[in-house]
Amino acid sequence: ANLLSLLLSFGILTSAIGVCVCHNPRRFPEGFMFSTATASYQIEGAWNVDGKTENIWDHICHKEPSPMADNSTGDIANDSYNLYKRDVEMIRELGIDYYRFSVSWTRILPTSFPDYINEAGVAYYNNLIDELLKHNIKPMLTIYHWDLPQKLQDMGGWTNPYIIDWYADYARVLFQKFGDRVKNWITINEPKEICFQGYGNGTMAPAYTMTGVADYLCGKNVLLAHAKAYHIYDKEFRPTQNGNISITISCQWYEPESDREEDITAANEMILFEWGQYGHPIFTDSGDYPEIVKQRVAAKSAEQGFLRSRFPELSPEEVQYIRGTSDFFGVNHYSTYLAYRNESVVGHYAVPSYFDDAGVIYYAKDEWAIGTHNRIKTTPWGFYKLLRQISNFYNNVPIIITENGFATLPGLEDNDRITHLRLYLNAVLDAIEDGSDIRLYTSWSLMDNFEWMNGYTQRFGFYEVDYDSPERTRTPRKSAFVFKEIVRSRTLDF
Ligand code: NOJ
Repeated sequence: ANLLSLLLSFGILTSAIGVCVCHNPRRFPEGFMFSTATASYQIEGAWNVDGKTENIWDHICHKEPSPMADNSTGDIANDSYNLYKRDVEMIRELGIDYYRFSVSWTRILPTSFPDYINEAGVAYYNNLIDELLKHNIKPMLTIYHWDLPQKLQDMGGWTNPYIIDWYADYARVLFQKFGDRVKNWITINEPKEICFQGYGNGTMAPAYTMTGVADYLCGKNVLLAHAKAYHIYDKEFRPTQNGNISITISCQWYEPESDREEDITAANEMILFEWGQYGHPIFTDSGDYPEIVKQRVAAKSAEQGFLRSRFPELSPEEVQYIRGTSDFFGVNHYSTYLAYRNESVVGHYAVPSYFDDAGVIYYAKDEWAIGTHNRIKTTPWGFYKLLRQISNFYNNVPIIITENGFATLPGLEDNDRITHLRLYLNAVLDAIEDGSDIRLYTSWSLMDNFEWMNGYTQRFGFYEVDYDSPERTRTPRKSAFVFKEIVRSRTLDF
């Protein structure tokens, strides 16, 4: 690994001075696309401007004492509500094909419902979309990236099955307003984070803690809401709009800690709990949750004295309704963990959680880290294995990488991000070479932004954002130039 990073930095150095020592240049396949991503709450600011109402992130950020690492809020964030033209200019500077962004539900529907459509909100996204298209950048629109209307949360949020209709009504408005120009849709970003962190362990808004129960309920509703939006698009809009639509699932890789049979099974089962729970019902031929997930939660529930399983199963009609609701597999990937079997019920939380149900403990190794400052380890081999596993599980489904990235501290010399990026793109090429149908790579993120509970302490951007300047000045980091060169040449030169 050390030799590799040495070679890498040598490659970067030489390409920076214009000498190509392409030991083994690797080309991306014909038609392979690059994208970068952001999300509404993380960049827009203007939290109460032009008719927008409160969402769960506004709400949690305004709590006292603040639960954010740096007491920050997204009230202004990157001020992209006003600076979207600069954002598009940066995407042009990078020469990127796509831009993945999300829409703020309460900016479009201040009452949460389509009884009233806020034209100022619609105008903002129209302007952004038109500005992108003017410069030949294709919009990829995420309908829901975590900023649920607070009013809907007050009615139970994602644990209330009515949300399937609430969400679908909102999605329909977006298809109507933007579908003439937007051809790439992501229904929902990261079910596991919405559900487990939002309603299970409470590390994301709305920060409910009913793990092992509310997170599973949420998961079922997310799947049905996604499926409903898919069916609406498929029937009402696809015939005239001709776009693609799917969901984005966060998938980490779990490697068995040892070659003991029980650890191998533990790692496999952890994968099924973490992302098979959302992937299998949509992407397998039979549909439905992985059998082992249903069995294990039922067994643990019985052990704990529950007369019914805490896991809400899908009826045969629901299985049917969810199965096949995808045009591609949207994957967000950040990390790899070692997993081993541990059946004791008391695990990470006082109440049962999904990894207690899975009977697995997992951890990442410190020595996998490059740089010192963040949770994201550099384990490209895990990314390779993950991509191959998605292809194997789901009939070689077309894969769109909707997020992958690395956090640093502020500063323009982000050599660790560059190393990480190149190693991860190399893993993508390995997976393609071995048969995976990967169409697009999205880097998180175009620019620094509000990193949820971590506030502005973790920087993911190709562009640094100066939060001390009222102008929110954006400056390209060293990685921006490297990414630009990769995108231009469609080549990774080792
Ligand atoms: C996934 C989320 O979709 C995104 O909002 C977040 O900022 C990144 N991961 C980095 O943690």
